Amino acid sequence: MYRPQSAGAFLCRHVSPTWTTGAIQLVKRTLTGTSLDTLVSLAKRRGFIFQSSEIYGGLSSVWDYGPVGVELKRNVKDAWWKSVVRERDDVVGIDASILMHPDVWVASGHLAGFSDPLVECNDCHRRFREDQVEGDVCPNCGGGFGPARQFNLLLKTFLGPVEEDAATVYLRPETAQAMFVNFENVQTTSRKKIPFGIAQIGKSFRNEITPGNFTFRTREFEQMEMEFFCEPGTDDDWHDYWMNFSLDWFKKYGLRREKLLLRVHESDELPHYSKASADVEYEFPWGWGELETISNRTDFDLKAHSEKSGKDLSYFDDQKKERYVPFVVEPAMGADRSALAFLADAYDEEGEGKEMRVVLRFHPDIAPFQVAVLPLSKKDTLSPTAERVHSLLRQHFNTQYDDTQSIGRRYRRQDEIGTPLCVTVDFDTLDDDAVTIRNRDTMEQVRVQIENLESAIRQTLNQMRIDAQG
Ligand code: GAP
Repeated sequence: MYRPQSAGAFLCRHVSPTWTTGAIQLVKRTLTGTSLDTLVSLAKRRGFIFQSSEIYGGLSSVWDYGPVGVELKRNVKDAWWKSVVRERDDVVGIDASILMHPDVWVASGHLAGFSDPLVECNDCHRRFREDQVEGDVCPNCGGGFGPARQFNLLLKTFLGPVEEDAATVYLRPETAQAMFVNFENVQTTSRKKIPFGIAQIGKSFRNEITPGNFTFRTREFEQMEMEFFCEPGTDDDWHDYWMNFSLDWFKKYGLRREKLLLRVHESDELPHYSKASADVEYEFPWGWGELETISNRTDFDLKAHSEKSGKDLSYFDDQKKERYVPFVVEPAMGADRSALAFLADAYDEEGEGKEMRVVLRFHPDIAPFQVAVLPLSKKDTLSPTAERVHSLLRQHFNTQYDDTQSIGRRYRRQDEIGTPLCVTVDFDTLDDDAVTIRNRDTMEQVRVQIENLESAIRQTLNQMRIDAQG
């Protein structure tokens, strides 16, 4: 059984970069957590996440990422893809279609068994997942429930112009099945030998009975999944490996250790395909919630697809000179949930009243923007130099240019979207060709020659990467 590592009070160490003379500084977080309402309101105010179709009154539990949120979520996906695919020799990627042959969902067991127990209140007729209500009275009005029935979570649509049963297809409820049905295509074209994995990032859909908690549980969401094919008998070790890998990944990108844990599933909560599963959980404002499930799916899926399709999906191990159906270990992560966890974890407040500063302490690779370029004034005299600095930096970093409102308000705005560094171009810049870098966490300001700016920023971001791991 894995235990959460307790890190005690979270201290973020900020070591001054070598080109300043400052000593090591310790920045203590002020907050241990915040409310969901605070996050939802910040997300709207600063362009992270909006309610879908808001001008029509919104569509319940469906969300759109704005200009800042799209960068955050893209960074989460890029960081995962880099760690799981690009930095490894034993994992390759695919990008499969959302729509698949309906028999896929027969073989996978989703058509028959992908359901939750639903209960309906006899009085107010609200519907709940039976396993999410305590006792047998409606949490909305206190009424009694009718008998529970199984509700299938697959979302249906029709392919082609005729809405008939023969044209029914399903929006995939997980990305995983495309990796199983493409196993042979990928293995033969990539010439990978077992053990190896196939990864994919993409949309999935589930007709959840009770979506909620902002982007935590929605009906349309994005998953980052990897199916790792291995020799039977080595699967337990690989399961251990990928559980540790997953937990370490969240720590690497700065989630606080004391808010993360790995929870091993009891045997009665295992999905039908799994021999063993564990969840990486994060302590959200409403309590602990799953970010990722790492399952030992055995040879269930490859065997099921072999049987249904008639295609042999076994593998010939040319070292051992034997044929077997590979076992599969699957780390399955939610991109939206992870982005929400990074947002919740980054949120901090400093000071009080009018002096209060909201700051998102994102890891530099997760922060929507790494650098903001801010000319001190909007005057034409500064603009050409500020634009020159911006075009220099945007080749290397994800940047924002902001020349509206007072410099103080612009710093606050960048703090609220978690930009690690602000580069200010002032009137002295015109004489000394130097700019000021302001650090989001320490608010320390240092003067740097423009010719050294890129490397100075690189050094500071590298230090922030190290500090984010605690
Ligand atoms: N292929 C296995 C699988 O899909 P899962 O635990 O059902 O496993 C994996 O889903 C991850 O996908 C979850 O840990 C969660 O992060 C994300 N996820 C699942 N359902 C979701 C929903 N309704 N809304 C947002 N994210 C969801």
